[in-house]
Amino acid sequence: MPFDPAVLRASFAVVERRADHLTTYFYAHLFTHNPGLRALFPAALHEQRDRMFAALTRIVQRLDEPDRLTEYLQALGRDHRKFQAAPEHYPALGASLIAALRQFSGHSWTPEIEKAWTEAYTEIARIMTEAAAGLPAERPGWWEAEVAGRRRAAADLVVLTLAPMHPYPFVPGQYLTLSSPRAPRVWRPYSLANAPRPDGSLELHVRRVPGGLLSTALVEDVMPGELLRLGPPLGDAVLDPGSYRPLLLVAGGSGWGQTKALLEQLTAERPDREATVLLAARATAGQYDLDAVRRLLARNPRLRILSAAPEQPCGPYGGTELLREALRRHGDFTGWDIHLSGPPELAPDLTGLLLDLGADPALIRHDPAPATFNRARPVTSSDWFLDHRDVPWINRTELD
Ligand SMILES: Cc1cc2nc3c(=O)[nH]c(=O)nc-3n(C[C@H](O)[C@H](O)[C@H](O)COP(=O)(O)OP(=O)(O)OC[C@H]3O[C@@H](n4cnc5c(N)ncnc54)[C@H](O)[C@@H]3O)c2cc1C
Ligand code: HEM
Repeated sequence: MPFDPAVLRASFAVVERRADHLTTYFYAHLFTHNPGLRALFPAALHEQRDRMFAALTRIVQRLDEPDRLTEYLQALGRDHRKFQAAPEHYPALGASLIAALRQFSGHSWTPEIEKAWTEAYTEIARIMTEAAAGLPAERPGWWEAEVAGRRRAAADLVVLTLAPMHPYPFVPGQYLTLSSPRAPRVWRPYSLANAPRPDGSLELHVRRVPGGLLSTALVEDVMPGELLRLGPPLGDAVLDPGSYRPLLLVAGGSGWGQTKALLEQLTAERPDREATVLLAARATAGQYDLDAVRRLLARNPRLRILSAAPEQPCGPYGGTELLREALRRHGDFTGWDIHLSGPPELAPDLTGLLLDLGADPALIRHDPAPATFNRARPVTSSDWFLDHRDVPWINRTELD
C-alpha cells in the first residue's frame, strides 16, 4: 500500500474520540453536496454512523496487515452492490470523509496528513470497486425472494421459507443479509437454517428483538407472497469438509437455525462423523422446532443432542450456566471442532471456558458479533489505552 500507516494512525487517534460529531458532519457534508445519494441510505442513520466508524476503525487497525485488509475490503466492495453503490459514488464519499477529518483534526491537520488520507481512501475505493466489478456478470448484486411460508414457532419467533427468484448458492453455516420494503434500505444479517435443497428454497429463523426495526416487521407483519431482498451469502463458520475430529455444536436460541443447517449437511454428506449438540434456551418452554430436532435424530444415529434449558426462565440467558456446566462436565475438548451459534454474548461467554478445557482457538468457529452491539466506544484516553478493540465486522469473508 502506498501510504504511511503511522501517519494515518496518529491522525486517526486525534479524531477517534470525536467520532459521533465526525460522522454526523460526514453525512451532512455528503448529502448537502450529493443530495441524490440520500435515497440510497435508510431513513435512520444512527446505526450506519456506527458501522461506518467501525469499518474505518478496522481499516486503520489492519493497515499493517495488507492481506487481511484487502480481503476485508474486497468482501465489503462486493457486498456494496446490494446498496447500489456505483464506482462514481466513491469520490463523493472520499471528499466528504476528508472534509470531516480535516474539520475535526484542528491544528494537527497538515498537507502530509491530507495526502496520506487521500492516498489511503483512493486505494480502499480501488480495492472495493475492483472486487465488485470482478464478480461474474450473471451474479446479481442482490436476490429477490418471495416469502413462500411462515410458521410461528414461538411467541416471538417465526420460521420463514423463502423462494429466491434466481438460484442462491451458499454453504451451510453461512448467513445472508436481508431487507424488506416494510423497513426500506435496512439490511440485517440472518443465518441460513437449511442445507441447500433441490427446490432452492431457504429457511430463516427470526426472533423479534424488542424495538427492533426489521425483526419486528419480519415476525409480525411480513406475509407469504411478499418480496424480500437478499444480499450475498457471508461468513465462514462452516464445517471443515475434510475433518475427522470430534465435533461439538452449541446452539443458543435462534442459533439453532445455523446449527440445523450444519447438521443437515453433516447427515447428508458425512454420515460417518459423530457430533454432540448442546441446545440452550432461556427456558424449556422457549425451545422451538423440536420436531426438526427429532427428525434429525431419527435420520442420523451418530448425533447426540442434549438440552441445556432451565425449567423456569432465569434471566435473559438462563441457559448459559447450564451450558457452562455441561461443558465442564464433559471435561476435555482437546482436538475438537467446535461451532458456536447464538446471541452475540454466546461466543465471548463460552470461548474462555472452552480454551480452559483444552480447545484449540483455531478450531472454534462462530459468526462475528455485530459491530455496534453493546459496545461502548472508548471516550477518555485511559479507555482508549485499556480497551481491547477488535471491532468485529459481519462481512469478514465471503466464501464464494
Ligand atoms: C452474523 C449474524 C447472524 C444473525 N443471525 C440471526 C438469526 O438467524 N436470527 C435472528 O433472529 N437474528 C439474527 N441475527 C441478529 C439480526 O441480524 C438483527 O440484529 C436482529 O434481528 C435485530 O434487528 P432489528 O432491525 O430488528 O433491530 P435494530 O433496530 O437493529 O435494533 C433494535 C435494538 O435491539 C438491539 N439489538 C440488535 N440486535 C440484537 C440482538 N441480536 N439481540 C439483542 N438485542 C439486539 C439493538 O442494539 C437496538 O438497541 C444475526 C446477527 C448476526 C451479526
Ligand atoms: C471506502 C468506501 C466505503 C466504506 C469503507 C464503506 C463502509 C460501509 C459499511 C461498513 C457499511 C455497513 C454495512 C452493513 O452493515 O451491512 C456501509 C453501508 C452502506 N454503504 Fe458504504 N462504504 C463505502 C463506500 C460507499 C459508497 C461509495 C456508497 C454509495 C453511495 C456507500 C453506500 C452505503 C449504503 C447505502 C450503506 C447502507 C447503510 C445502512 O445499512 O445503514 N458506501 N458502508
